[in-house]
Amino acid sequence: MDGFSRRKVLTAGGALGALGALGLATPANARSLWTWAPGSSVAGSGAGIDPQWVWDEEADPVLAAVLERGGIGAINDQLATWTRNDQAPPAGLPADLREFMDHARRMPSWADRDKLDRASRINLKKGIYIGALYGLGSGLMSTAIPRESRAVYYSKGGADMKDRIAKTAKLGYDIGALDAYLPQGSMIVTGVKTRMVHAAVRHLLPQSPDWTRTSGGQKSPISQADILVTWHSLATFVMRRMREWGVRVSAADAEAYLHVWQVSAHMLGVRDEYIPATWDAANAQSRQLLDPVLASTYEGRALTEVLLDIVAELDLGLTRPLISAFSRYTLGDRVGDMIGLAREPILEPLIAAAWPLLVAFREGLIALPVIPAAAWTLEEALRQFVLLFLNEAQPISISIPDMNRPA
Ligand code: HEM
Repeated sequence: MDGFSRRKVLTAGGALGALGALGLATPANARSLWTWAPGSSVAGSGAGIDPQWVWDEEADPVLAAVLERGGIGAINDQLATWTRNDQAPPAGLPADLREFMDHARRMPSWADRDKLDRASRINLKKGIYIGALYGLGSGLMSTAIPRESRAVYYSKGGADMKDRIAKTAKLGYDIGALDAYLPQGSMIVTGVKTRMVHAAVRHLLPQSPDWTRTSGGQKSPISQADILVTWHSLATFVMRRMREWGVRVSAADAEAYLHVWQVSAHMLGVRDEYIPATWDAANAQSRQLLDPVLASTYEGRALTEVLLDIVAELDLGLTRPLISAFSRYTLGDRVGDMIGLAREPILEPLIAAAWPLLVAFREGLIALPVIPAAAWTLEEALRQFVLLFLNEAQPISISIPDMNRPA
């Protein structure tokens, strides 16, 4: 977007934000007025512009130029060889792309090695909760986020959800890995590649008639606000649920977990002035950004079906009802209904009764309780799920799409 139209859009933003505040926006576009103060961000200050009118001014023009020139196949071959944080971008890449990557792979000055190190060890202790919450909580919640559902559904990856999930799971794996941000790790690479994919999607999706028809007037997808919405559906949601479930997370661990997500937001191209500095700030921002946008869409319901089928495939469908009931328990009825999760009248009360006991037992708060057999089956299913989620994620290379979902 050129400077002129960006300015126009920024001005229009105030008016549209006001419409949203008056409740005049349609449900799929419902947003609250942006009042979140940049003083609560890791930057500590900022212009305070509503992030739904901000995209990625560094990555977007570069990826647009790359896509216009063509030859994405050869670029993706080069990108597949770029795997480690300490590796320079491949020499065979076009100069403009390499220059961008070299800049984008620098960690923010405020990244704290000790916190990142602590964060990497949380998964060893709480991996089953975090893995299950990412996969069956956040993953499914994404289908109740209209803009994300539609972007995913109508982009190239929407046609092959299994592949897409494996790639997205890679981020979940990389961010939780012991060496996520160490030289031999790969979270910088994954973050920068994802930032480039998002920039490519911003160039491609506006060319999709289906996306344009359903975008609710949004001209370019994946704004900074949209990324933050998804960020909260991951980081903030997981921390909130762990707390609600009574999972013991020390203050230092909670801060470290926030930190790894702060750094990751930066690597995905989110401006520092929008990245919450504390959990309080994150919760406040989540209430403003995530809560009002959750809604049911055709695309979201279709994606839920695909996602649940993929999960069920892991174990021949035996536990699909269990997984579905657990997801509803995790997401709550409101979101469960939105995304079309089936009701499981027998399993739902069982999980509601047994899961808190299981957590309390795992956290060492109670002795082995009398737990219905289904709860152990659930735990085993979750463990399998988390393992598969982690294993399948490893050999995947995130590549730049060069087209939208075929009509
Ligand atoms: C691609 C993660 C936010 C839409 C990806 C990929 C990852 C990822 C790892 C690469 C996998 C792939 O190529 O399929 C994230 C994270 C986000 C975020 C961690 C926020 C914290 C969003 C948002 C949207 C979005 C807000 C839309 C509103 C897409 C689309 C693709 C993609 C359309 C490309 C799918 C394709 O055609 O292959 N994202 N994403 N993402 N993301 Fe995101």
